Amino acid sequence: MTVSPQIAAYPLANDVGDAYWLPFTAMRQFRSNPMMFVGAEGMHYLTVDGRRVLDAMAGLWCVNAGHGQPRIVEAIREAAGRLDFVSSFKMSHPGAFELARRLTGIAPDGFDHVFFTNSGSEAVDSALKIARAYHRVRGDAGRTKLIGRAKGYHGMGFGGLSVGGIGRHKRDFGPLLPDVSHLSLPYDRASMGFSRGQPEAGAPYADELESLLQINDPMTVAAVIVEPVIGSGGVYPPPVNYLERLRAICSRHGILLIFDEVITGFGRLGRPFAAQALGVTPDIITCAKGMTNGAVPMGGVLIRDFVFDAFMAGPPEAIELFHGYTYSGHPLACAAGLATLDVYEELGLCGRTTAIAPVWEAALHSLKGEPHVADIRNIGLLGVVELSSRTAEAGARGSLCAQMCYEDGVLVRASGDLIVLSPPLVIEEEQIGQTVESIRSALHRMN
Ligand SMILES: Cc1ncc(COP(=O)(O)O)c(C=O)c1O
Repeated sequence: MTVSPQIAAYPLANDVGDAYWLPFTAMRQFRSNPMMFVGAEGMHYLTVDGRRVLDAMAGLWCVNAGHGQPRIVEAIREAAGRLDFVSSFKMSHPGAFELARRLTGIAPDGFDHVFFTNSGSEAVDSALKIARAYHRVRGDAGRTKLIGRAKGYHGMGFGGLSVGGIGRHKRDFGPLLPDVSHLSLPYDRASMGFSRGQPEAGAPYADELESLLQINDPMTVAAVIVEPVIGSGGVYPPPVNYLERLRAICSRHGILLIFDEVITGFGRLGRPFAAQALGVTPDIITCAKGMTNGAVPMGGVLIRDFVFDAFMAGPPEAIELFHGYTYSGHPLACAAGLATLDVYEELGLCGRTTAIAPVWEAALHSLKGEPHVADIRNIGLLGVVELSSRTAEAGARGSLCAQMCYEDGVLVRASGDLIVLSPPLVIEEEQIGQTVESIRSALHRMN
């Protein structure tokens, strides 16, 4: 891997300063020891001081085919020189239609429409708006309430934040949307700890939705939104029969079920979408991240026919959805998206993930019994090693472990005391071993 001349043209000052305010980052701490990358290729990042670091996070759950895929790079280059921008308000370009066709081709049956956004957060807020508007356009405008879930992460827009279930994310920004309730986390440490894949006995947790509906009046609820596998909140696979039961309850009450597949979309569970891998079909699917292999910002809302059709019943000259973004269906993003789908197909990423997932599972669970390990959860090529917290110093073990792994040449993500893992789907067995041994070594070296 070589550093390009353009990168070399940005000398790194000794002090990076604070002109750039980074998201979700302790600015003053970052400044004292900035983690900076100048290149990436395949499974590795290249640091500013010339070290190769194994990326066990796929960037941020997004670089599913590994970094610097030449076909994607070339498609972006070509698109930028051909059509830099065109509005998607009342006009478009062929690439957007082709990408929509390809995406609906790999989506679950009946998802024949896609609305383009630029991020997962925008996809979620768009999905929530489409859900409310769907009920209104059918003459059922009283359905406005939304139901999310504890530990859910649905991005940082006010809509996604409101249905999200991580209190610290909301604390500084209220008031959020009214009329939002949350299901509890379908997880019990005593009976589900160290489960491999989906834990048993999810139905009772899903039945909680029925109780919530009786409190709220089901006729006032527009949608339930869940990640099929909770991601950022700590990698919690759905217990057996949980999603199935949510589906049945939503159908019974005419409530739309939204799966937020921003992480699970594009192969992470061995099928294009978790809905297919887990055998449960929602009404709306949000996606982003792996949609362009992380190379250009893009998100999308996949919509089932009956939802879309409800909007198409009015006068043909009337705009059906008063919603959209300047960069919806951006030509560069569409080109990246199309090349990404080609690359995923050529690499057979879904089949590869299914084949290597048992190796991943066995490797992660080999950490059971190591110092500080409180739980391990996994599904597809997702995983988390949960560490016990130091008394009065929550998060310290997690960040120390991540720091030690980084110094050892492996990038893992610490979220509090959780070591979160979501590698590119092209990871090799030996790199799985390197990741797990790096964590093991760190656990033995820390108190
Ligand atoms: C499930 C889920 N939804 C939404 C988002 C928000 O996506 P973005 O950061 O692209 O806005 C994320 C980001 O991690 C996510 O994991």
